[in-house]
Amino acid sequence: MTDILPIRTQRTTASRLSEVDMNNIEFGKVFSDHMLTVDYVDGEWQEPQILPYGDMSVSPATSALHYGQAIFEGMKAYRQADGGVALFRARDNWARLNASAERMCMPTIPEDLFMNGLRELVRLDSEWVPGQQGCALYIRPFMFATDGFIGVRPSTNYRFMIFTCPTNPYYTKPLRSRFEQKYVRSVEGGAGYAKNAGNYGAAMLPTKLAVDAGYHNLIWTDATEHEYVEESGTMNILFVINGRVITPALSTSILDGITRRSVLQLARDWGLPVEERKVSGREILAAIEAGELQEAFGVGTAATIAPIATIGYQGQDYDLPALSDEGFCRRVGAELEAIRTGRAADAHGWMERV
Ligand code: COI
Repeated sequence: MTDILPIRTQRTTASRLSEVDMNNIEFGKVFSDHMLTVDYVDGEWQEPQILPYGDMSVSPATSALHYGQAIFEGMKAYRQADGGVALFRARDNWARLNASAERMCMPTIPEDLFMNGLRELVRLDSEWVPGQQGCALYIRPFMFATDGFIGVRPSTNYRFMIFTCPTNPYYTKPLRSRFEQKYVRSVEGGAGYAKNAGNYGAAMLPTKLAVDAGYHNLIWTDATEHEYVEESGTMNILFVINGRVITPALSTSILDGITRRSVLQLARDWGLPVEERKVSGREILAAIEAGELQEAFGVGTAATIAPIATIGYQGQDYDLPALSDEGFCRRVGAELEAIRTGRAADAHGWMERV
């Protein structure tokens, strides 16, 4: 098929919405009533379907489970001040999912298929979009290889799906993050810029070791010198040093975060100096010791903005100054929240009503 077929929808007869306490949701555990599913067979996307959220059965030989052709996105829909619902930068997530698909030798998804399916799903489950401050509907588009075949080659069949989860704030406390100088998340020329499942699986052991040592997450460093900052946990990372907003430049080993892009755009809108470049652990340490490091924080879809309170570097902990309401981190967090909920002007056209 070349044209996008209309979506076949089977609505649930037993909504679970009334069982959910919207003020007390653990991230990723509560799923809205419906999901979108579309199969890719014989080189073509098939009829999209919206079904009640539920289990599916797959062959034990499902290619994605063995060789890791599995990619995903994280994005959000927000309750608007006027009661409506809007998506944040959804087309950027569509484009990034396709960039991941290309890297993992998977088929790309036509924009209409992605956007129509997404809008229809979020519309159908719009009552699941929380309205409290700092809350949103987290949206998880993903695609995986479905051939029941363990020969090592790209799968010929795939499934693209979207489900959604209402979420409360992801981190409730400032983070303790330590520089990881043994394990790496990715390498130049690897797949770190793609959102493929394996990047996250390989991060679990080093993250667990950091958690066991009393930290919340890691500051990943480069694969050659183990010194240049890459990301923070599952987020991009920004520093404010002497009023300058500094973040590692994008590369094939760093995810092109949509929250990262948005925060840098707002910094530029406000006339702040922004530097996308190499940032070393030594530079961060020197800035802390000189009292010049004002803020450090992670940025990502799930967490939005996650301030870092303590940085561990070469076995020593360094406490950062307490955040102030006038600082960049809090201001940009508040501005993003205001744009996303329709309480501030959407100057860059980031929001799209469902
Ligand atoms: C996101 O912020 O969407 C992420 O990628 C983190 C996620 C793996 C929970």
